[in-house]
Amino acid sequence: MPYAAITGWGAAIPERILTNQDLEQMVETSDEWIVSRTGIRERHIVSGGESTTSLGAGAARQALAKAGRSADDIDLIVVATATPDDFLVSQACLIQAELGAGGAAFDVGAACAGFVTALSVATQFVTGGVYRRVLVIGVDTLTRYVDYQDRGTCILFGDGAGAVVLEATEESRGLLSTVLGADGNGHKHLYVPGRTKYVANSAKLVPESAAIFAEESPYMKMNGREVFKFAVQAMGDSAVEAVQKVGLSFDDIAMLIPHQANARIIDAAARRLDLPREKVWVNVDRYGNTSAASVPIALAEAADAGALKEGDNVVLVAFGAGLAWAAGVVRWGVAGVEPPTAATDATEPATATATATASV
Ligand code: ACO
Repeated sequence: MPYAAITGWGAAIPERILTNQDLEQMVETSDEWIVSRTGIRERHIVSGGESTTSLGAGAARQALAKAGRSADDIDLIVVATATPDDFLVSQACLIQAELGAGGAAFDVGAACAGFVTALSVATQFVTGGVYRRVLVIGVDTLTRYVDYQDRGTCILFGDGAGAVVLEATEESRGLLSTVLGADGNGHKHLYVPGRTKYVANSAKLVPESAAIFAEESPYMKMNGREVFKFAVQAMGDSAVEAVQKVGLSFDDIAMLIPHQANARIIDAAARRLDLPREKVWVNVDRYGNTSAASVPIALAEAADAGALKEGDNVVLVAFGAGLAWAAGVVRWGVAGVEPPTAATDATEPATATATATASV
């Protein structure tokens, strides 16, 4: 049975930066409060022509370039997102068109747990022998749903995209264990009201103005304390289970790459795995919570920083709206993967939109 090695990775981050100082001008908050309660100092938010499509395609191009593959080589695109640019067409189809790729394309919805969930779905197509090369993208533009008068949520979120290329290998690489879970009763703790009502009446893009949704504003509602309690439990439990499932001990773990929602939640997960700070990748200070993009952006950063070595065991873990969670152990590296034969044009810059790539 083949494995699904991660052979390429990339990230795309919007140009516009929203700092804690900017937020101090918008709501009653302070840099000191935000940093001490969340660890976040700034986040990037979409502007101009940037979209879920442009960010997702930007990250995908980087991942393809790293893998030495072109869009033509890809058999399937799986996109994790909660903020597609269209309600009817899957985000994966929009990105496929942008990349000029072929093959199959569909979305996975699990909010911030989306990328790890999509990775597990995509991996099964490779290990099952159905496809040999799959592009997995985590992308969200959640700030389109953030109420910038609600200090409980507007400090937390940013936008971005991350992507990986999976390729078949006979060596034990890629996602080796998966733990997925959901508690649908918790949907009331984190949601965007009215979206389905709006979908039923329109085939347009996400409503960006509360004015067209008079009685119920289309902004995210969150019970922060409930989500916090859930997150600490779910991240810790699922990460531990993912390590145990693959028969490893915590000493065998080279790096934890957690969902970047809140530094305090990340610290709690690291404690459960008994990992020192240098084995935990943290970038929440610069990006805030980018939802489905959070784990793949952090993964791309860690890889580009040389923090992940061939054969390293890496724990990915995330939680989010649903409530849902996902964790897995990835064995890093490309052993046994068929090397690329020719240079590709995958490094061509993304479309007209001003998508900056993460400098990683
Ligand atoms: N600035 C200043 N004060 C604030 C702010 C702010 N931005 N926000 C809340 N407060 C106040 C509250 O009003 C409250 O005041 P009170 O005691 O007078 O009532 C006080 O600070 C404490 O509020 P708490 O909500 O208890 O603060 P807490 O320490 O729990 O931190 C936070 C709030 C950061 C939201 C935290 O609960 C959290 O991170 N929760 C998890 C959220 C999360 O991760 N969501 C994403 C899920 S992933 C996805 O799918 C999108």
